[in-house]
Amino acid sequence: MSPAVSPLTSAMQLQEPLTIRSSSCNYQVDFPAVASLASWQPQADLLLVDDFFAGRLDPALDDRVVLIHADETAKSFDRMGEVLLELKQRGLNRSSTLLGLGGGVIQDITTFVASVYMRGIPWIYVPSTFLAMADSCLGGKSSINVGPAKNLVGTFHPPRQITLMAPLARSLPLTELRGGLAEAAKICFCHGSESFDRYRRLAAPVLAGEWSDLQLAELLHHVLAVKQWFIETDEFDRAERRLLNFGHTWGHALESATAYGIPHGLAVALGMQAAHQFVGQPAGSTPLMDHTRDLLADVLSPDPLLQFDSDCFLDAFRSDKKHGRISYHVIVPPREEDSIALGVEEIQLPREPAQESAVLAAMQAVIREVMA
Ligand SMILES: NC(=O)c1ccc[n+]([C@@H]2O[C@H](COP(=O)([O-])OP(=O)(O)OC[C@H]3O[C@@H](n4cnc5c(N)ncnc54)[C@H](O)[C@@H]3O)[C@@H](O)[C@H]2O)c1
Ligand SMILES: [Zn+2]
Repeated sequence: MSPAVSPLTSAMQLQEPLTIRSSSCNYQVDFPAVASLASWQPQADLLLVDDFFAGRLDPALDDRVVLIHADETAKSFDRMGEVLLELKQRGLNRSSTLLGLGGGVIQDITTFVASVYMRGIPWIYVPSTFLAMADSCLGGKSSINVGPAKNLVGTFHPPRQITLMAPLARSLPLTELRGGLAEAAKICFCHGSESFDRYRRLAAPVLAGEWSDLQLAELLHHVLAVKQWFIETDEFDRAERRLLNFGHTWGHALESATAYGIPHGLAVALGMQAAHQFVGQPAGSTPLMDHTRDLLADVLSPDPLLQFDSDCFLDAFRSDKKHGRISYHVIVPPREEDSIALGVEEIQLPREPAQESAVLAAMQAVIREVMA
């Protein structure tokens, strides 16, 4: 029933496609020059679509579209049963192809159901948030919530094809765009100064709020090529890929300590600042610190930071899954005495109150700085 999952060879490409090597299958990232969603004709049997796009697709696709409201409840384990039954009712079989159009929520749902339906069917991903375009679309992971436990279960099932449509980014709110840029900055910074300098040059039009599809595609191509290096070097998160947690240990604890009042990408930007602070490189002293300050300008609301709860921060920091039994593992920029191959390194800290106080103090210093 389904046509073969083939790259969009007929459409003009804004960038050279990337081919990602994975142990389960190789897959391709395309950058087609699509003028608008209304003229887009995807080759898939069923489309799981973020309801933001209701009324924006060709009405001829309606029979193949399932709209999903993208929030955290949509990716609950219970809801996965409903989506799987929907696939069954729509007659999908082992040779059918699924397509996901949306941000990380739709990506998690589509990856998950495609990985388990009839023991796995192929799928195509069309990311629509900046975070998903520049970061999460590569890697093949799904994360599903079980009750209150966020991202507790998941699978690994890369898409056969990723279609990056630059015009989709135009409707994104500024906060989402800046948060996605923070994740993109992180990826390139982790790789090293050359990648980060190129990222900054390519990101300048997006940061300034005026970009062409070609400029956005060039930026995404660079960031994804860098992420490709990490996931191909360490597909299963054992060494190099762990470095991409840079900014996240502090960032996740900050989200928790502000009752999730700070959007994830902005928390990561603040988390990267805290990591710098922790190794004695305070605000304004490095290109990444300058850049994160630009990213946070006009989008960071002070209200959640005023509610910062130190105990909650430390509880969340201590329970980060990445830590070892006797030591905390954190990713930091190199200290002056270090010589490392990449842009950041993983260090271990003894699980001691003095270390916890230093971690907290770094976060508090960053909060004071951004509130000043
Ligand atoms: N699987 C992975 O590797 C991975 C990695 C990181 C994050 N995640 C997950 O991704 C989720 C967050 O995803 P996200 O930040 O991409 O956003 P999202 O999917 O939560 O969507 C955020 C909002 O943006 C709207 N939206 C989507 N595209 C839009 C567009 N083009 N224009 C305007 N609005 C649009 C959505 O309707 C929604 O309201 C979390 O659940 C997180 O756990 C998964
Ligand atoms: Zn993140």
